[in-house]
Amino acid sequence: MAPNMRAGHRGTGPGAITPDGCAVELYARLPVREEPDVVAAAVPQGARILELGCGVGRVTRPLLERGFAVTAVDESPEMLARVRGARTICAPIEELDLGETFDAVLLASFLVHAGDAEVRRALLRTCVRHLAPGGRVLIQREGADWHTNVPRERVDPSGCTVRIVSAEPVGDGVNSVHAEYAFPDATWTHTFLTRPLTKEQFEEALAEAGLRVDEYLTEDGVWVRAVRAE
Ligand SMILES: C[S@@+](CC[C@H](N)C(=O)[O-])C[C@H]1O[C@@H](n2cnc3c(N)ncnc32)[C@H](O)[C@@H]1O
Repeated sequence: MAPNMRAGHRGTGPGAITPDGCAVELYARLPVREEPDVVAAAVPQGARILELGCGVGRVTRPLLERGFAVTAVDESPEMLARVRGARTICAPIEELDLGETFDAVLLASFLVHAGDAEVRRALLRTCVRHLAPGGRVLIQREGADWHTNVPRERVDPSGCTVRIVSAEPVGDGVNSVHAEYAFPDATWTHTFLTRPLTKEQFEEALAEAGLRVDEYLTEDGVWVRAVRAE
């Protein structure tokens, strides 16, 4: 394992790989999906948004285009080098303390399912630490059958075949998921640890951090708006 890799996370394929196993070149190719629409409908116009785990800025860019002021955070300098137009911060989210607050904090990409519960707690504490009074945390969580409906595949609009090949229990309620992203000219793999959370477990995790669900934003329960529990 490369020294900077997070335990249980691996990635293969052309170009730089982040500590959590993501491929920079892959994320530079993947188109944005529903994310900007969901965010735009859930936060005030022109909001100041702290985006945690922004990658190459796949979601950042459409948010900037819609007039949001985005501060984009990632621990991978190679990812951040691709972000255009936003203020960027290179740091592990767990340790982030900017000494300022935002109208909205975005914790997408299923980061709330961190295999290590201490990491999840730290991620959620970072969200709360950066929340302005009345601010919202937008969280993207896994769908209900994501670990049981395996193997499965879909073809992305970019022409990429995305395959979730396996989800194997590795103990303590954590699964090791293996995914493949195949384009005609290149293939990437991503192996990562993820902790399935029922709705109840998810809400407990929020409560632990002093947050509560304000609204499930999508019918599948994947996108959630949370606020301070107060
Ligand atoms: C799956 S990629 C998604 C990137 C972006 N959110 C998107 O949807 O295109 C996850 C990104 O989060 C970053 N990341 C994961 N865990 C992190 C952590 N604890 N601290 C900082 N960055 C993290 C990775 O480096 C990677 O760029």
